[in-house]
Parts: sequence; C-alpha cells; structure tokens
Amino acid sequence: MQVWAIANQKGGVGKTTTSLCLARGLAQGGGRVLLVDLDPHASLTRAFAVPTDPPPAGTHDLFTGTSASLAALARPTDIPGVQLVAAQPALATLERRGSTQPGLGLALGRALHAVHASYDHVLLDCPPTLGLLMVNALAAADRLVVPTQTDPLALHGLADMLRTAAMVERSRRRPLPQHVLPTLFDRRTRSGVQSLERLHAQYEGRVWPDAVPMDTRLRDAHGLTSEAGCGGRGADAYARALDWLLAQVQAPQRQAA
Ligand SMILES: Nc1ncnc2c1ncn2[C@@H]1O[C@H](COP(=O)(O)OP(=O)(O)O)[C@@H](O)[C@H]1O
Ligand SMILES: [Mg+2]
Repeated sequence: MQVWAIANQKGGVGKTTTSLCLARGLAQGGGRVLLVDLDPHASLTRAFAVPTDPPPAGTHDLFTGTSASLAALARPTDIPGVQLVAAQPALATLERRGSTQPGLGLALGRALHAVHASYDHVLLDCPPTLGLLMVNALAAADRLVVPTQTDPLALHGLADMLRTAAMVERSRRRPLPQHVLPTLFDRRTRSGVQSLERLHAQYEGRVWPDAVPMDTRLRDAHGLTSEAGCGGRGADAYARALDWLLAQVQAPQRQAA
C-alpha cells in the first residue's frame, strides 16, 4: 500500500482536484484506492455528494478515542474502485483541542496501518493549514505530492510547504520524497510562463516537467466524480502526471540542491 499526501499550505492550488483525478487514474489502472478528506471545508466530501447534515461519520472519528477503524469509516463512491473517508466540520476545532493530547499526531498512520492489505493506494487530501491534520498526513505518507499554482506568489507557498515537509521528515525514521505538480497553468500570461520556468529550474528532479493547464472542465468538482467527468486537456495532463509519479516511485530521487 502506497500512501500519498496531497498537500500545500496554500489554498486553491488544486489539492482536491489533484486528489480526485489521481484517484480516478489509479482506480482505472486497477488499483484499490482510498481517498481520505482531511480538510474541514470538506470539498472532496461534497464533490461526492455525501450528505453533511447531520455530519457524516469520517475522518474526525479517528481522533476521538472511540477507536473507529478506517475500514468502518470508508464508503463506496460513484467511481468504481475508489472509496472515501468523509470530512466533518468538527475537524476545524480538532487542531486546537488536539495539541495537548500526546500521540494524536500518529493517529492517522496507525489507522492506515490496520488497512494496509485492503488498498493499493491511499490519497490524503490535506487542509491548507499547518496543524495536527497536516502533521498526521506527513507522518503517515510514503510520498508528498505538492500541487502548486503557476504564479509568483504560489512559489513562496511552495517553499514554505517544502520547509515544513523537511521538518517533519527529520522527526520520522524514513525519508519523505517530495514531488511538485504545477497546476492551473495559463500559457497566455507572461507571469504564468515565467513562474513555470522558475519552478522547473529551481526544483529540477522534484518537479513534474509539464503542467496541468487551466481547464474549465476541471472547475466543477462534482463533474469530476461522475462518469462523464475528468475528460479534456486537464484530465489528460493528470493522466500524464500520474504516469510520472508512478515512475518516480520506481526511480531513486534526484533532489535539487
Ligand atoms: N486545472 C484547473 N483548471 C481550472 N480550474 C481548476 C483547475 N484545478 C482546480 N481548479 C478549480 O480551482 C479551484 C481550487 O481547486 P481545488 O482543487 O479545490 O484546490 P485546493 O484543494 O488546493 O483548495 C476549484 O474551484 C477547482 O475546481
Ligand atoms: Mg481542497
């Protein structure tokens, strides 16, 4: 079982879209995929039209000491081969309360360990904040995938995220390989083209040497969960990104200095 954290401390960079498109691609390749929504905003959970009132059972239950298992929390989705653990709004308050309880940083990793024979791939859709949930994801992950918008400001966000990952990596007993996916690329703007060039130059070896273009068909997350969804240029790009990521899993990583 391979666990990938899809994370960036910046919001709106395509984390949820990336999680969905990669999950679909992995399942189409025959994999058993588990998506875990770690974001209190629950975009992924809403994309799958899980009713949110009353809040569904889901990720928060892993942290409440009720020893809920992921196997019990995972629900089937409209995408064959993909299951989902839903997010609840209560996740937002968890970080504050959780910080005083020892051992909570590893709750997700422990829960995943118990289902390692049931899935081939687990994708963790992270919140855009560095707190207990992101730390759980980075502690549990075998790989970190960082979707990054191709604009100058987003490059600062990327640097912050990679610094955070390096910090968590030092406290784990195994490396956390990092992969950067340029997203929301608009080739008609000079700042987009320049930002992509900088990304490729600065993070050579860690960055996918391509980019997911702006594509209105990717704008509607609900569409991405339907049979007709995830078609078009953006989806094609995600299929290529997935091939590249899977090749990285096989290959030793070349890190830029
Ligand atoms: N390649 C793309 N082209 C057009 N819109 C996109 C693309 N990727 C994401 N979006 C849209 O941008 C917004 C933010 O994406 P999302 O995946 O929710 O980001 P995050 O999870 O990082 O907050 C969403 O409305 C999404 O549908
Ligand atoms: Mg999101």
